[in-house]
Amino acid sequence: MAQPAIATPLTLLPDTPASLTLAERLFETRSTSMELAAPLSAEDMTVQAMEDASPTKWHLAHVTWFFETFLLKTYLRGYREFDPTFNYCFNSYYEALGPRQPRPNRGLLTRPSAERVIAYRAHVDEALDKLLAKSTGNGAEIGRLIEIGINHEQQHQELLLTDILALFAANPLRPAYHQRKPAESPVGGGTAGWVEFEGGIRSVGQEGSGYFWDNEGPRHTVLIHPFRLADRLVTNAEWLEFIRDGGYRTASLWLADGWSLFNREEWQAPRYWEEHDGGWQQMTLSGLQPIELDAPVCHVSYYEADAFARWTGMRLPTEFEWEVAAAGLPATGNTLATRALRPLPAPPARNGELRQMFGDVWEWTASAYLAYPGYRPPAGAIGEYNGKFMVGQHVLRGASCATPDGHSRATYRNFFYPHQRWQFLGLRLVSEID
Ligand SMILES: [Fe+2]
Repeated sequence: MAQPAIATPLTLLPDTPASLTLAERLFETRSTSMELAAPLSAEDMTVQAMEDASPTKWHLAHVTWFFETFLLKTYLRGYREFDPTFNYCFNSYYEALGPRQPRPNRGLLTRPSAERVIAYRAHVDEALDKLLAKSTGNGAEIGRLIEIGINHEQQHQELLLTDILALFAANPLRPAYHQRKPAESPVGGGTAGWVEFEGGIRSVGQEGSGYFWDNEGPRHTVLIHPFRLADRLVTNAEWLEFIRDGGYRTASLWLADGWSLFNREEWQAPRYWEEHDGGWQQMTLSGLQPIELDAPVCHVSYYEADAFARWTGMRLPTEFEWEVAAAGLPATGNTLATRALRPLPAPPARNGELRQMFGDVWEWTASAYLAYPGYRPPAGAIGEYNGKFMVGQHVLRGASCATPDGHSRATYRNFFYPHQRWQFLGLRLVSEID
């Protein structure tokens, strides 16, 4: 199966020197991954709940393999490969780098042990430290690759969390990953308001400053028709109304592929919702919890999001409507290792302002994940990522409660297949302007 991961680690970024700041960011990112794994036992870290999800141990090793493969083997003279068998175990989907453990069987890797993977991380960290201390004459290229490696590892941090949620939701004990509370008490922002946007020819995509993935460019123009965007995300309360109104039993609301899929899988609610004693509960990283009515609905597929929008008489935004609306908005969020890691109710409405654009759930858009005009995948193995996944997926915009800092921006393009829902995926509505 193709990569179901977050936007891909190919980038076109300006030359970045291998500076101390970069080194600090590198080792902070490496530490954060270990902090996220800290609540887990070796057994928790070894298995995978389903094909789309990977074991924590695999994530921790794969991001390390990435640094070893793309950086250390080329640029650190005398680098000693930690273990030649790891290329097979921890290559994800790089055809140019040889055969690999099949994705659905990553959870069978009881060896190498978690302890050995942690030793691998230490080995690679030490080598990265050495590389950064040396002046090799390739500073710009090394800096570029470290920046990619940092962003790649951060993407896997989000996957690590969503994959643990899938694993613990499949466990009859319904374990809690943590018991963190939000920094501030969530309030619940009431009914949705609407923000209007004019039509016209608009520029979208990245134009070259700062870090971005290759799929965010080239910048180009699109035609936008006037639209009205909801100022907050669709909530659990609204989703309950959809369920009670027979939304999951009304064929006319559904795309054909979605209708046949969820009939086959007997979906009756978002993933992780469970009905107990006549009430709905939801599996979260804090264990099984009552549904929070004002919180955004989460873990819904594109098919469900589309059916919900049809039920309301509205629709999902295109990715370009979303980007035009989000342009210039500040990204919010705090440190991943201290967040509550669940989507929170909207703050109170402020006239004409969009709420919850970043930091709760990724938002499904109506747009197919396609190359922008003029897009060319970079050459070489590292260029395998984006281009080859541009079929059959939808773009999601925003950022979730599990998205690391630095990955919240108006142009960021996440992408998933329409049936997938184990990530923090939700929606916001568009109302047409007549
Ligand atoms: Fe990866």
